[in-house]
Amino acid sequence: MAEHGRQGAQAAPWWRGAVIYQVYPRSFADGDGDGTGDLAGVRERLPYLAELGVDALWFNPWYPSPMADGGYDVADYRGVAPEFGTLAGAEKLIADALELGIRTIVDIVPNHVSSEHPWFRAAIADPAAPERELFWFRPGRGEHGELPPNNWVSEFHGPAWTRSTDPDGTPGDWYLNLFDSRQPDLNWGHPRVREEHEDVLRFWFDRGASGVRIDSAALLEKDPALPDLDPDSPAPHPYVDRDGLHAVYRSWRTIADSYPDPRALIGEIWLPDTERFARYLRPDELHTAFNFDFLSCPWEPVRLRASIEGTLAAHAPVSAPATWVLANHDVTRTVTRYGRADTSFGFAAKARGVPTDPVLGMRRARAAALLTLALPGAVYVYQGEELGLPEVEDIPPAALQDPMALRSGGTSPGRDGCRVPLPWSGDAPPYGFSPARASAPPWLPQPADWADRTAAAQSGDPESMLSLYRAAIRLRRAESALGDGDDLTWLPGVPANVLAFGRGDRFACVVNLGGDSAELPAHRELLLSSGPLTVDGGLPSDTAAWLRL
Ligand code: NOJ
Repeated sequence: MAEHGRQGAQAAPWWRGAVIYQVYPRSFADGDGDGTGDLAGVRERLPYLAELGVDALWFNPWYPSPMADGGYDVADYRGVAPEFGTLAGAEKLIADALELGIRTIVDIVPNHVSSEHPWFRAAIADPAAPERELFWFRPGRGEHGELPPNNWVSEFHGPAWTRSTDPDGTPGDWYLNLFDSRQPDLNWGHPRVREEHEDVLRFWFDRGASGVRIDSAALLEKDPALPDLDPDSPAPHPYVDRDGLHAVYRSWRTIADSYPDPRALIGEIWLPDTERFARYLRPDELHTAFNFDFLSCPWEPVRLRASIEGTLAAHAPVSAPATWVLANHDVTRTVTRYGRADTSFGFAAKARGVPTDPVLGMRRARAAALLTLALPGAVYVYQGEELGLPEVEDIPPAALQDPMALRSGGTSPGRDGCRVPLPWSGDAPPYGFSPARASAPPWLPQPADWADRTAAAQSGDPESMLSLYRAAIRLRRAESALGDGDDLTWLPGVPANVLAFGRGDRFACVVNLGGDSAELPAHRELLLSSGPLTVDGGLPSDTAAWLRL
């Protein structure tokens, strides 16, 4: 492929300062009317994404899958799920987006496959099959092998092991699944696993993908002894962040760099240790990784400043750009989280029915949008964030699909509440998500009160969240100090509950997290603010402003 996308004002590689929009294909737009979003729906909405001004789209998995975990259970890494479209349709989408200057990032899921993947089917069909070695099959403990081989716990509740049934119907060995039982973990010690994924990378890069988002990137390697997890042990963790992983990513980097327009590798790496995190971003490994420290951070000035400083300090030694993420398909929607007493995010804290002030949440989410878009590095926007969608907390239990909810025995609401199909137009479900004569309702029910959240309703409203995102992204693109531009410098002399920083000497971002309005630093022009200023020009509580100095 010749010229791969638009040249921004910056000469640096695109991924260093991009605005990347996350598309959850099931819930973005339904082109064929079956109630499930699809690639045709995305193609129809490319003008919307171009108008929003994003540089790239990251698609959650679009591969053939039983959808036991929303597509993170992949049955065929080289295809497209029939409910989403066809491989030819994906190629067309990648090409059409690129025509508009928008790159495509596909989601690679290397830690596990679907239990319907041909490898796992072969491994289950015959305990002597060579495919057995591609997974972690082990005899159980206990007199009759009735206990799991070790004490590891699934990310989705319960043991991380499932007992298989032998072809003769008797209980057999157990297999490891760090997520759902329909997502068996691969054995990354096996050369076939490595070769297969390298080939899959080339497959999508050859089809024009500009990069990959790597699912569960710090979990691939397991201690082959499969010891019990002992949190007090000084030994390396048996499956998180093991040293051998770096060789895998070095090899992937060689592949990414072998293209004339190098492809980007983006890691999903949840690691509290910033030094260990940064190792994945050394110049011959991944290009960037999601900043979960920032995503989890409460709306508090001291904590936010510490997260920003810690992020920049961790990235500096490896010369990797930071990323700024407020939300994704796994976490509570920003507007809802910021409207609560506890504004941090944690899976343990994700609960139903926590009192929420939606007006406060919206005000903070607007300020947070301007904060993130002004920070140095790349920014991710999760579909619907630009519409200010809240978490949907009243999905009827029978409609829930997320294994995190289904396996929790009713204790966790799971992640469906942030995956509800987008409202595009109209004043009642399906709000233009599906075409007029759809054969089925949206796969998750949409709230009855989203008429004012539709893209159409917000497009003409200068005060809307959509208008704020459009204006901010437009300014960010024009402002060379932003994105991967100039360093961040904290402005002196501001109150402790105000975050104020410059990018270069002509641009400043000021965010007031205090209860009272704050005086703005001296400036020539107010470029944009997340809400109106006070009559005497002060910055109200939970409001952000971009200033020309
Ligand atoms: C992380 C993904 O973001 C999440 O949605 C998924 O359930 C797990 N990895 C397992 O693939």
